[in-house]
Amino acid sequence: MPLADDDPKKWIYKEHTEVKHEILRKYLEAWIKILGRYHNTVCFFDCFAGRGLYTNGELGSPLIIMRAVKDVIRKFDFLKHVELTFIEKNKNNHENLVKVIQDELNQDSSGYSGITIKNIINDEFADIADTIVQDCSHPSFYFIDPFGFSGIPFDSIKKILALPRTEVFINFMIEYVYRFLPSEGHARSIEELYGIPNVKALTEEEYEYLDLEAALLKIYRDQLHQGANVKFTFPFKVNSDGKLRTTYYLIHATNNFKGCEVMKNVMYNAGTKKQFGYLGPAEGQMAIGNFDNLESLQEYLADIFNGQSLTYEAVRMQTANDLPYVTGDYKTALLQLESKSKISIEGKGKRGGMSDSCMVHFTPVTIEDAAEEVKPLEVEDMEEHSQSSLFDF
Ligand SMILES: C[S@@+](CC[C@H](N)C(=O)[O-])C[C@H]1O[C@@H](n2cnc3c(N)ncnc32)[C@H](O)[C@@H]1O
Repeated sequence: MPLADDDPKKWIYKEHTEVKHEILRKYLEAWIKILGRYHNTVCFFDCFAGRGLYTNGELGSPLIIMRAVKDVIRKFDFLKHVELTFIEKNKNNHENLVKVIQDELNQDSSGYSGITIKNIINDEFADIADTIVQDCSHPSFYFIDPFGFSGIPFDSIKKILALPRTEVFINFMIEYVYRFLPSEGHARSIEELYGIPNVKALTEEEYEYLDLEAALLKIYRDQLHQGANVKFTFPFKVNSDGKLRTTYYLIHATNNFKGCEVMKNVMYNAGTKKQFGYLGPAEGQMAIGNFDNLESLQEYLADIFNGQSLTYEAVRMQTANDLPYVTGDYKTALLQLESKSKISIEGKGKRGGMSDSCMVHFTPVTIEDAAEEVKPLEVEDMEEHSQSSLFDF
């Protein structure tokens, strides 16, 4: 018998939840600072808001959002107005949430000036998504954090992302999708989640070269790009504490390249060191120290941009969805390529600084040139190359 959504066992705070909250908080702080400069009002929608507090008093996402907004609004004069909306389906959780939010406001009412709690809705996200989308014309951030994978129809995500200056941050429960993919009884929910029929057949026929998890993630991201027309998506892998398999991916989707880069930086610094994931105690221990792949980044860039000239920003933008690297990595890799005379960089600052508009010229390399450089692979290298890598997502 599955536990009810208000069962205290579901509200024990885990290390991986803390990582999720850290990413949420750090990104929100940056997001409001960027957008609040140009817009009088920005909005947050916490669409699966929860109870407000975990069993031992740890803060839930609504309080994390409220306090982060409060801190930023206090520090920066240009921030005028932030509107917060919370949605929670479970009646008991909703009641608790209303009380927790009220207590928070009572404790520091002046600290919350400039912040409007627009609504704390007791309903299903999918049932009111259309209404909230129609009601809001300001830049908006939607946090979608369900326990499972039902109740987040792709159609609603698509409508949100069709608005200008909206972003979503989705907890994509891949472990359950994976587990219930063969079940006829779950076929409709999976179809609704992806917004396309026959996801199972697609994994078998189109993506048989990927493992199932990678295929399920790829199809969802492809849907965001092709079905919802969003320019940038980036996933952060989360393993439950003590487990070796993926529990969920936190997927950020935005049309704003700056937003994408900021989120990648936040993800890079959260969780298991520079792994774009919280891999849990077991896998994390093994992974730390094995992550030195700027060499791969250099090779990749030299290969795909062979002979081309483009701005430093375009180099990052055109590869943002595919590569687990942050701005600093690109800079280092390009400077290393320059020192090997594989590229030239035009417009650098006096001390070697690179602005977005610097031009990067990739020296053309013919197949014959490349063949001369390739050393035969050692058996050990080949084994390493055959394993799945961070490029797989
Ligand atoms: C993972 S918890 C949210 C945790 C919360 N975001 C946090 O970080 O503190 C998911 C919540 O969504 C609620 N929920 C379940 N189905 C829902 C739906 N269709 N619409 C809105 N809320 C729902 C559950 O009752 C539960 O409180």
